[in-house]
Amino acid sequence: MNDNFYKEFENSQILIVGGAGFVGSNLCRLLVNYVDNVKVTIIDNLLSSEITNIPKSNKIEFREGSITDFRILATLKDEYDYIFHLATYHGNQSSIFDPIKDHDNNTLTTLKLFEIIRNYKNIKKVVYSSAGCSVAKKTFDMAVATTEEDPIEIDMDSPYSISKLIGEFYSNYYYKQYGLPVVRARFQNVYGPGEVLGAGNWRGTYATIWRNVTPTFIYKALKGMDIPLENEGIATRDFIYVEDICRGLMLCALRGEGGDVYNLGSGNEVSIAQLAEEIKKVTRSKSRIEYLPKRSWDNSGKRFASVEKSKLKLGFISEISHREGIKRTVEWTKDNLELIEKCILKHMEHLNYYQ
Ligand SMILES: NC(=O)c1ccc[n+]([C@@H]2O[C@H](COP(=O)([O-])OP(=O)(O)OC[C@H]3O[C@@H](n4cnc5c(N)ncnc54)[C@H](O)[C@@H]3O)[C@@H](O)[C@H]2O)c1
Repeated sequence: MNDNFYKEFENSQILIVGGAGFVGSNLCRLLVNYVDNVKVTIIDNLLSSEITNIPKSNKIEFREGSITDFRILATLKDEYDYIFHLATYHGNQSSIFDPIKDHDNNTLTTLKLFEIIRNYKNIKKVVYSSAGCSVAKKTFDMAVATTEEDPIEIDMDSPYSISKLIGEFYSNYYYKQYGLPVVRARFQNVYGPGEVLGAGNWRGTYATIWRNVTPTFIYKALKGMDIPLENEGIATRDFIYVEDICRGLMLCALRGEGGDVYNLGSGNEVSIAQLAEEIKKVTRSKSRIEYLPKRSWDNSGKRFASVEKSKLKLGFISEISHREGIKRTVEWTKDNLELIEKCILKHMEHLNYYQ
């Protein structure tokens, strides 16, 4: 992929809501590293992130607080060329545990942001981060690539998924009603450097610590802990490296059509069992595989994205192979073990995480 597109952000003002998070902080880092004369404003309440995620740069201004808080909303002006809305209540399990907090941080966030910016004249594009898991067909049979046009089922596995879809509904509503140029980006499973286990506040379940499968397996493999494999690891996912998703988000901002939706994934299907084996190989780990029952709430067993439309319309392709991405993530994890363990240990009063 030709990375000349960075030049197109020169002299821009960019707002990243949820910019201290895993994806947001990586996006921010790429923008300040590769774009001259750019100003990035981050709004984040650090619910599932650490302040240390935010790169140190005089191109960045950080405002701590919720995008639903009127004191934060009152600081916004019609000065942004691009807005990336990445705030969420992370993630499925937390939302099942506390649907009201999910609503406050995953639905109201979108509504209040769009209400404030709906008449802004300067905005070239707003990018809304949606989730492929909300729209994928719920199946443990052979998966077919999910396209952007596939019908969406009404049965959702979690309040998180419901919120992500409500965000899509509002994206289209504000586009049609007010001409707000919102582009929806449907992420597949993102992994890579910067996803800190235990980042942020306790959100009610062990998923506060074990956020996602890739960082969890890598950490446990490096520490020689058992690697938990639910349902024999038969579920499949489409894993996309974080720098690739950030490039995809930037291309959504530059080339995406307001009111339209694009899948951002690798287009490849990897089983959770394969992921565990790959990580064991790369880390040379002696960890045992611990076989566990299927997660009762998770019915979207096998899935991956069709990436035809984003390739054709945005010129997007994911560049980092899964093997290379895992290697880089393992190296980053080794280099950041102290930070990761500090964040895990923050939650010890709630849970003995070794059990
Ligand atoms: N990581 C993935 O695999 C994945 C997959 C599908 C969709 N997504 C979506 O991508 C976006 C980024 O995900 P991520 O993995 O970086 O998650 P993350 O939890 O690391 O980042 C979300 C950020 O939003 C912040 N936030 C929460 N509530 C807020 C509020 N009220 N006001 C301001 N900030 C708030 C959190 O503190 C955090 O920094 C999310 O919208 C998520 O739903 C991610």
